[in-house]
Amino acid sequence: MSFLHFTALIFFFFHYNLNIVDSSTAFVAPITRDQSTELYTISIYFKTPLESTDLLLDLGGKFSWIDCTPDVYTSTSHHYIRCGANLCESLASLACSNCFRPSGPGCHNNSCALFPENPVIRNSILAQALVDTLALTTTDGRNVGQLGVVPNFVLSCSDESLLLSLPEGVSGLAGLGRSNYSLPAQVSSVYASPNLFALCLPGPSTTSPGAAFFNTGGPYYFSPGIDVSSHLIYTPLILNPIGFTIITYYRHPSDEYFIGVTSININGKPVEFDHSLLTINDDGYGGTRLSTVTPYTTLETSIYTALIEAFVNESAALNLTVTEPVSPFEVCYAASDVYSMPLGPAVPTIDLVMHSEDVFWRIFGANSMVRIAGDDGDVWCLGFVDGGEKPRTSVVIGGHQMEDNLLQFDLVSMRLGFSSSVLVHNTNCASFNFTEEPDL
Ligand SMILES: *[C@@H]1O[C@H](CO)[C@@H](O)[C@H](O)[C@H]1NC(C)=O
Ligand SMILES: *[C@@H]1O[C@H](CO)[C@@H](O)[C@H](O)[C@H]1NC(C)=O
Ligand SMILES: *[C@@H]1O[C@H](CO)[C@@H](O)[C@H](O)[C@H]1NC(C)=O
Ligand SMILES: *[C@@H]1O[C@H](CO)[C@@H](O)[C@H](O)[C@H]1NC(C)=O
Ligand SMILES: *[C@@H]1O[C@H](CO)[C@@H](O)[C@H](O)[C@H]1NC(C)=O
Repeated sequence: MSFLHFTALIFFFFHYNLNIVDSSTAFVAPITRDQSTELYTISIYFKTPLESTDLLLDLGGKFSWIDCTPDVYTSTSHHYIRCGANLCESLASLACSNCFRPSGPGCHNNSCALFPENPVIRNSILAQALVDTLALTTTDGRNVGQLGVVPNFVLSCSDESLLLSLPEGVSGLAGLGRSNYSLPAQVSSVYASPNLFALCLPGPSTTSPGAAFFNTGGPYYFSPGIDVSSHLIYTPLILNPIGFTIITYYRHPSDEYFIGVTSININGKPVEFDHSLLTINDDGYGGTRLSTVTPYTTLETSIYTALIEAFVNESAALNLTVTEPVSPFEVCYAASDVYSMPLGPAVPTIDLVMHSEDVFWRIFGANSMVRIAGDDGDVWCLGFVDGGEKPRTSVVIGGHQMEDNLLQFDLVSMRLGFSSSVLVHNTNCASFNFTEEPDL
């Protein structure tokens, strides 16, 4: 028997037993936008028997966590990690814990313990690490296929207190950060695939889900047959040497994704502010980060002030006059004064210029403006907020600015691929074909 056949046979048995397909397996999961919290939820399958499970999407999360409240958490495949085990060490566990309730998920003696975090209320608890079965839907980038299993997925338990302020119906958090135990890192390691994932967050005016792709650099087809991966441009991902988790991990760099924005242009004209704020200093301050748990882009005060002045100035040329602000926004225009275009309201463009002048992320009206309609009026407001004078990060790109944009996190080449608005290509993030429901 040739070596090739031998390998194929092993794969066959592997596949048969564990439902692990081959190393080219790509996965897709739906992302929904919660209207009341303006946060995003990713749906995966978890436990045995598999259960559809909604988790808060946290792009910068170190690891995932789930509510292990007894009765709520039932699964025949879960197990725990003993203190001192290699896996516990590599998880950078800071504690070992015992439990005096009946043993079950999240309750064992001599168990490796972690500090899961809620990034919205910035709270953390001590909880036990947990191992259980995860599954995701396979895809060819166009349609959905069978489920693929990630056995022995490592995460943390938590309790109900950590679900505070998260979207209704979520039972935990999916951490997509740079760490070895983030969801994409574990999925790629089980399938021996390059760690490459992509997010396409749905916009505010749809109930259809957006999509997260794992283990694939593309294609990513959205209706009517547009492969958005062909429209990506790239900029390096930058490592912040200092993490900013609630619990401090000594000498652990940040698990968040930073990029090298070098200037901000409005209608092609540079906004003037102190550009040293855009670099990360030795204490980990400054720079530009992407966050799915921040609804609107948040800027250090001097950048914010300069941006809104320049924006108001450029808008004046379009005969737009600011009206009463609607908190937390300061620059609003009567909706009746603003023209509607395929890329959203017609307002000046905002460009985030990267490492080179011809590499920029262009933000059109659909991503820069927020429609607020109520009894007091109907306005479009500039959806950027003031982050205060000495924030940890100078520019935090928030969810609203990422919606209907494809973002590819390539952890092999350490670069971010971005599309700018996919509305330009006559598609949107809510048009991936999720039609086929997988059999559990
Ligand atoms: C842990 O050990 C203590 C003391 O031996 C015991 O009372 C307790 O029931 C044990 N807990 C579990 C979950 O087994
Ligand atoms: C969506 O996918 C399903 C199943 O793969 C397929 O039958 C259907 O034709 C697709 N719909 C579109 C609009 O492509
Ligand atoms: C993550 O895994 C890689 C490859 O196995 C290893 O070289 C690296 O040290 C790990 N990182 C941490 C923080 O443990
Ligand atoms: C506002 O516009 C005027 C006239 O176009 C220009 O001279 C001025 O520099 C602009 N100010 C800002 C902050 O962009
Ligand atoms: C702005 O208003 C002036 C006066 O009403 C008009 O002449 C001009 O064409 C308008 N410009 C735009 C861009 O609508």
